[in-house]
Amino acid sequence: MTITEVQKEILRLKKEKDILILAHSYQSRDIIEIADIVGDSFALSVKAKEAKNKTILMCGVRFMAETAKLLSPDKTVLLSSPLAGCPMAEQFSKEDILKLKEENPNAAVVCYVNTTAELKTVCDYCVTSSSALRIVKEIPNEEIIFIPDINLGSYVKANVPDKKFTLLQGGCPVHGIITEQEALAAKALHPNALLLVHPECKPEVTKYADVIGSTADIINFAKSSEKKEFIIGTEISIVEYLQFECPDKSFYPLSTKICCKDMKATTLVDVLNCLNGTAGEEIILDDDTMASAVRCINRMIKM
Ligand code: 13P
Ligand code: SF4
Repeated sequence: MTITEVQKEILRLKKEKDILILAHSYQSRDIIEIADIVGDSFALSVKAKEAKNKTILMCGVRFMAETAKLLSPDKTVLLSSPLAGCPMAEQFSKEDILKLKEENPNAAVVCYVNTTAELKTVCDYCVTSSSALRIVKEIPNEEIIFIPDINLGSYVKANVPDKKFTLLQGGCPVHGIITEQEALAAKALHPNALLLVHPECKPEVTKYADVIGSTADIINFAKSSEKKEFIIGTEISIVEYLQFECPDKSFYPLSTKICCKDMKATTLVDVLNCLNGTAGEEIILDDDTMASAVRCINRMIKM
């Protein structure tokens, strides 16, 4: 079968079975083209909740499918590639966090959405890269335990100087490997381009950024900006995504090393097989986990 034939079959099956396909914007172009909704991890979960369809198919990584399930407990949520996890989401255990809470009884535990549902059960507030600053500023506690990303945590800490932060040594192994030298080299190579960087990158990289923001912030800025050239400091697929969205502008990768193998684990054939019922995985969470984990997400949505 050709790519177009597989895509046509996917479109036929999803209509026949009334399945909503969500794709994170880091997915490959062939998947983006057959998705009903494309967006960042938070936007996808909210759209899943709002949708009328009884079944959701997530093309992304496991924590995104779990977040969709937490927000849509009555829906069937499928993850098209069970192999697709986010290494950062699994860097700490529930026990690690409970111990920290015991040591810092006045602190609020703030978790990045890139965490497992299990870890969310012991967290007070959930944040996304786009909402982290705003939400941490609003939290009444003066002490914050921020998990798991030290880079996003450092970015928030630098911008909320009146609170005391405990940060853990976690982070994205993809964004986190970019060096200051690479940022300087990319700027030297494209002197007219603006540098747009995800806060999962190290502070020595984000300090050169013209804009620091989530995937959605980076996409929205690049689309609406008058400028014509941009260096993209997030997963490399966003360079391609933006090039399709804005053909009159030029996008360059900050580094070709920012390539997430988990986000690339899903193939178009996985999506087809998941719709056929021969592949994929249904996300099942027990009632206690669902009830406890959704609390920190609901607080974020409310705030
Ligand atoms: P967003 O929350 O911006 O979608 O990012 C998810 C992610 O995994 C970034 O690496
Ligand atoms: Fe996780 Fe990093 Fe991949 Fe995002 S890019 S899914 S944070 S490993």
